[in-house]
Amino acid sequence: EIEAQIDDWLSRMTLEQKLGQLQQLDADFPTGRLREDQLQMVREGRLGSTLNGRGAAATNAAQRVALEESSLRIPLLFGFDVIHGYRTVFPVPLAEASSWDPAAAERSAAIAAREARAAGVHWTFAPMVDVTRDPRWGRIVEGAGEDVFLGSVFSAARVRGFQGDDYSRPDRVAATAKHWVAYGGAEAGRDYNTVDTSERRLREFYFPPFRAAVDAGVATFMTSFNEINGVPATANPFVLRDVLRDEWSFDGTVISDYTAVRELIAHGVAADDADAAQLALNAGTDIEMVSRTFAENGARLVADGRLSEATIDEAVRHVLRLKYRLGLFDRPYVDEAAEAAVLSDPEHRREARRIAGRSMVLLKNDGGALPLADNLRRVAVVGPLADSQVDMMGTWIGDGKEGDVVTVRDGFEQVLGRRGVRYAQGCDAECRSSGGFGNAVAAVRGSQAAVVVLGEPWSWSGEASSRSQLDLPGRQLQLLRAIHATRKPYVVVLMNGRPLTIDWAARNAPAILEAWYPGTEAGNAVADVLLGKVNPGGKLPVSFPRNVGQIPLHYDEKPTGRPFDPANKYTSKYLDVDNSPQYPFGFGLSYTRFALSGLTVTPDSITPDGEVTVTATVRNTGRRAGDEVVQLYVRDRVASVTRPVRSLRGFERVTLEPGQSRQLTFRLDRSDLELIDRDGNPVVEPGAFTVWVSTSSVGGLEGSFSVTG
Ligand code: IFM
Repeated sequence: EIEAQIDDWLSRMTLEQKLGQLQQLDADFPTGRLREDQLQMVREGRLGSTLNGRGAAATNAAQRVALEESSLRIPLLFGFDVIHGYRTVFPVPLAEASSWDPAAAERSAAIAAREARAAGVHWTFAPMVDVTRDPRWGRIVEGAGEDVFLGSVFSAARVRGFQGDDYSRPDRVAATAKHWVAYGGAEAGRDYNTVDTSERRLREFYFPPFRAAVDAGVATFMTSFNEINGVPATANPFVLRDVLRDEWSFDGTVISDYTAVRELIAHGVAADDADAAQLALNAGTDIEMVSRTFAENGARLVADGRLSEATIDEAVRHVLRLKYRLGLFDRPYVDEAAEAAVLSDPEHRREARRIAGRSMVLLKNDGGALPLADNLRRVAVVGPLADSQVDMMGTWIGDGKEGDVVTVRDGFEQVLGRRGVRYAQGCDAECRSSGGFGNAVAAVRGSQAAVVVLGEPWSWSGEASSRSQLDLPGRQLQLLRAIHATRKPYVVVLMNGRPLTIDWAARNAPAILEAWYPGTEAGNAVADVLLGKVNPGGKLPVSFPRNVGQIPLHYDEKPTGRPFDPANKYTSKYLDVDNSPQYPFGFGLSYTRFALSGLTVTPDSITPDGEVTVTATVRNTGRRAGDEVVQLYVRDRVASVTRPVRSLRGFERVTLEPGQSRQLTFRLDRSDLELIDRDGNPVVEPGAFTVWVSTSSVGGLEGSFSVTG
């Protein structure tokens, strides 16, 4: 029925109106309103969608222009980067992945969708499902880390959260799988840089989280800025047509990234705007974000025979399909009276606090430094990020408001009262000056214990925020050493959007909590964890290197012909640093302890289509209730192509009371054991497999099974 209505639209639209549906422009960010020239384009049927247009009143006003003042009467579509919350800011996506709790990510996406839709936003440019092994790349903060399996699980969870099973509903939005594809492979971690990668790497590593999004019903894809093996993604028919449309049967909408169509000129594959439009449209890009090459050149390209009108019709069909699926033809307006209550729903804040607590990773806890003592009466809360509202939210904060943020200082003051907290900043987040160190040290000296909040300014991660060093910024380490020298008990809280190199702190600080950027409820969540109300149970979704020279560093490396052997110089290693990370993928401590036992692997032999069941028991052997993430890894011992030393294939986060145990069951089937053979076919090859059930990517209970021919 929808397709018939689209046919009808297409038969009545002029070419200019069709090209208008393919144009997306940037509304005024601070107000969320469309500018007068943009409204005029709407009247003339030359604008189909906006980004950054938001707010119930602002979007309704623009929608009225589309429906009442234009001859076309196709509703406008409002897109926005709702990445980790709209008004209520949740932990950054990398943090949420640290929860190893996809239900938490689904929930935060659902709340973000509810708020966004109430504010007139129909479509989010999320989730970002780019996997990367390079923490220099600033956008690592927006994804689920280094692992393709974890990344695929979180990709599907976020799509479900944003869209539900019907994104025409008034509390859901259409989602975008971005950035298609291999954006996380930017050479040297420098944003927008060249990507040169094999088809094997594309299919094994970069594609699966996108495939998971398609399987979860994602409405749209966004092309990436980068080239892939010489062809920019926005003009790449292999990824946009052969894989996405033909292999995966994706029938949604493809949007370019911001000005990525015109950037085909800078890439050196298009001579001018007309060339860029021709390349992008023919390759399968439907909507052009911000640059205007389609609108300005489309008609001439058709007249010159360089582009068929059928190609434009196909792109318009994808846009109108999205508008229909969003229910915009039936319900184009949003209820202005309901917006404020949805954006201030206290349940959203409660969930933000709970999910932030679940996302934190305890990296070190010597001698039970944490949780802080029950009888704590006077604590120093110091450091550049301790009271910084803006930094606690991280990058891409939607319509989040700085003033809503609970800082770590606020969080402790709510528990201990203002007189129980001595605050000193020490330095700002870039920490170029040590002028304030004396105050910070004095605050620590005058307290029973100190909470030292260090990390990166929010603007150091996200788009265009690559770094070549991953140390704590400026003189932050110097501040930490000065606090250490007081000999007062202290703990370090890190807020950052990527793994940092923290060798000194890892060796010397009594305790380190990786809090990432926790969002609006940051301070409450940090206080919950440090004071023991919440027992940390997060695990790293990405390896922490010892130094930048180890990058790319990831747990699922290939074995090499000369695996490291300390007794043999001519093996794969560095002369000046260990091969191992500072903290491995999957690692994270708790205030209690857990033991694994009783691994079973049955049957011990299967055919390629068979299924293996792996069970193990996890027991809380400590004295507090807590969470453990039990992880299942697999290795294919001998195959026609090399296979990683281990690959994550399952996980479950469980909560156990002291002394309680739980038997967990994982199933491995064809999809978990498959490899891409030398001819490019997915196969399960006969031979021996090793499995590990463990609490990080290192060690664990080991078993095996075999696949027969
Ligand atoms: O959605 C983003 C994208 O991830 C990076 N460039 C800008 C887009 C729109 O804001």
